[in-house]
Amino acid sequence: MTNIITIKNIAKHVGAEVTIQGWLYASTGKGKLQFLQVRDGTGIVQAVLFKPNLPEEVFEAAKHLPQESALTVHGIVKQNERAPGVPGGYEIDATQVTVVQVSEEYPITPKEHGVEFLLENRHLWIRSRKQWALLRLRATVMRAMRDWLDTQGFVEMTTPILTPAAGEGTSTLFKVDYFGDEIYLAQTGQLYNEANIYAFGKVYCFGPTFRAEKSKTRRHMTEFWMLEPEIAFCDLDGLMAIEEQMVSYVVQRCLEQCAHELQVLERDITVLQKVVPPFPRLSYDEAVERIGKIQAETTDVELKKLLEVKWGHDFGSPHETELTKQFDRPMFVYGFPTVAKAFYMEPWPGRPEVCKSVDMLAPEGYGEITGGSERISDLNLLLKRIHEEKLPQEAFKWYLDLRRYGSVVHSGFGLGVERTVAWIAGIHHVREASPFPRTLGRVYP
Ligand code: 4AD
Ligand code: MG
Repeated sequence: MTNIITIKNIAKHVGAEVTIQGWLYASTGKGKLQFLQVRDGTGIVQAVLFKPNLPEEVFEAAKHLPQESALTVHGIVKQNERAPGVPGGYEIDATQVTVVQVSEEYPITPKEHGVEFLLENRHLWIRSRKQWALLRLRATVMRAMRDWLDTQGFVEMTTPILTPAAGEGTSTLFKVDYFGDEIYLAQTGQLYNEANIYAFGKVYCFGPTFRAEKSKTRRHMTEFWMLEPEIAFCDLDGLMAIEEQMVSYVVQRCLEQCAHELQVLERDITVLQKVVPPFPRLSYDEAVERIGKIQAETTDVELKKLLEVKWGHDFGSPHETELTKQFDRPMFVYGFPTVAKAFYMEPWPGRPEVCKSVDMLAPEGYGEITGGSERISDLNLLLKRIHEEKLPQEAFKWYLDLRRYGSVVHSGFGLGVERTVAWIAGIHHVREASPFPRTLGRVYP
């Protein structure tokens, strides 16, 4: 059989004789008609088996073929607006079906399964329509971010995963025995990117990041993917401009290239269409004031308690949720208290209790998707902060060097891929935005 096509491109082949290679997603039938929903990784299409059109034994075998059996379908592409699966409505009038492997009884059936069961079978669950749509969306998000940065002149650098020092606080380090020495899995590639900018100007790294987070929330994973751009001669304002342009570009690309996936996910795309610059910018002080006001005005006793906010604390998920509800697109909160943030952040001029930090919060209650800052560029100030945070100066020797040789104002941010995808897709928990999620309670499969 020839003319193997992918389901995604089926519209180009109306009237032609084609072959689809894939797996049986579902089937129904009655009498002389059998309908096979076939998926090939690019989409799902219906193959219509009309008994007189196929060899007798092929029709009979297809009737009893279990879900997830591997097969090829040969036939003629027809347009049929009512056909399920591919957007636009296409189906295949089958003339031949070849079974490649007869599947054993498949554990994931169209009935409702509990999420723990599905996570235990994640290696199979990814074949389901919604998971398929989500992970394709994730791939588009990752490609769009890279494309935007590449066209803006950023150079991709890889940063090490085995690291001798903590980048984001010592409480969430995964320890590794490195031939008798204690080292850690990377929490961030930022510190290395701060070295990279002095060689390349604008850089980014993109890879897995590890945090021994004890938080069992819908936003936390122990392994997640982070994109981290870093820019020389860039201050906090410049950083926010870059962030809002990149995130807007990514969302618009998803709308363009993942219309079908977003439809499968039943995402309300009108909220995504509004994601264009500029994003609202609120100082931490203003944000605290707003949250205080929401708290004072709410009649919900439970919420009132959750919205308790003391100056100096980072925001929790209820604070972010209520704050972002007031805006129709992502927003920035900048100028957090120094005590709530990492050691390397530049102090606010004349207000050392505040630092030049910025978080981007996604709307609809999704909360923080990026965290960034202007970095300390002065050697003595950085030394002081390392001592205040009781970090081992020896491990930061090379990082301090960057403040000795041509130090300049520079800034960068980190974007969490799973949180960003969860927001764009409109799903509840970040773990489904990863093919094989790692969370507090799970490292299998
Ligand atoms: O705000 P964070 O901790 O910032 C940094 O690591 C900086 N060094 C980045 C930089 O400036 N280059 O993390 C950045 C983002 C968060 O906004 C969030 O989207 C994601 O990484 N993130 C997590 N995602 C899932 N699970 C977790 N446990 C996460 N922790 C952070
Ligand atoms: Mg953060």
